[in-house]
Amino acid sequence: MKIVVIGGSGLIGSKLVIKLREHGHEAVAASPNSGVNTLTCEGLAEALKGASVVVDVSNSPSWEDTAVLKFFETSTRNLLTYEAAAGIGHHVALSVVGTERLFESGYFRAKIAQEKMITNSVIPYSIVRATQFFEFLKGLADISVDGDKVRVPPVLFQPMAADDVASSVARIAVGPPVNGIVEIAGPEQFRVDELVRERLAALKDPREVIADPEARYSGAKVSLTTLMPDKTARLGETRFQTWLTQSAAQNPSRKVS
Ligand SMILES: NC(=O)c1ccc[n+]([C@@H]2O[C@H](COP(=O)([O-])OP(=O)(O)OC[C@H]3O[C@@H](n4cnc5c(N)ncnc54)[C@H](OP(=O)(O)O)[C@@H]3O)[C@@H](O)[C@H]2O)c1
Repeated sequence: MKIVVIGGSGLIGSKLVIKLREHGHEAVAASPNSGVNTLTCEGLAEALKGASVVVDVSNSPSWEDTAVLKFFETSTRNLLTYEAAAGIGHHVALSVVGTERLFESGYFRAKIAQEKMITNSVIPYSIVRATQFFEFLKGLADISVDGDKVRVPPVLFQPMAADDVASSVARIAVGPPVNGIVEIAGPEQFRVDELVRERLAALKDPREVIADPEARYSGAKVSLTTLMPDKTARLGETRFQTWLTQSAAQNPSRKVS
């Protein structure tokens, strides 16, 4: 089966392309890097020719409110239009657990817009909502910086390894469209401040992490359970400590990443 991975050069996309190929599929990594741009439509028709499934794991280069909304609205509109013309039978998109509860955030308003366009389109679809990736913990610290400190809310979340995200998305991409939302999450629950602190310590990043009940998550107010998945979420296998040990072994000399 030919499967086009939009954002195939990214964190999830590159892992997804490898997994799909390992299972015998013709996975095409499509992104500006390889001449396919969902904003300008460059290379899109050619990439979709003969494909059965499109998986969108792209992300906006800018997370500024207006820019990110424009990215997801324009790229999703273009993708769905070209997919209809190419007779694509399954559109899979990666979104985030709790998206609809995070509307105070410009980034999440853009993800809500992306999800709505997919739901309203004629293309059969599966929206996969994942929890925060372990790989994003440092990024989370970076977007939560206040002077020389990191302020995050002491709320619950159930993050997961990017490898497990890619495995789940691959499984869903080769199955029938669910025409709905599937949630995926990690096997353990943590408090955001505890895990960000632990990640920064492992990276020898000296920034102090403050558990601040007033701190926002990506610009949105959150309650204790806003970021938590449903009880029905499919769980990945990789535990945080296992991932931490593996990533330290892969990047022994890296101080901050
Ligand atoms: N971070 C988290 O914890 C988290 C949790 C749940 C869900 N998600 C979702 O996961 C998705 C993927 O995230 P990621 O971290 O894997 O992304 P990433 O590593 O930042 O990769 C982004 C990808 O988007 C591509 N891209 C950018 N502009 C494009 C364009 N105009 N046309 C086509 N492709 C374009 C990039 O291509 P080039 O390399 O060629 O520029 C790159 O392949 C996002 O939609 C995000 O909302 C993230």
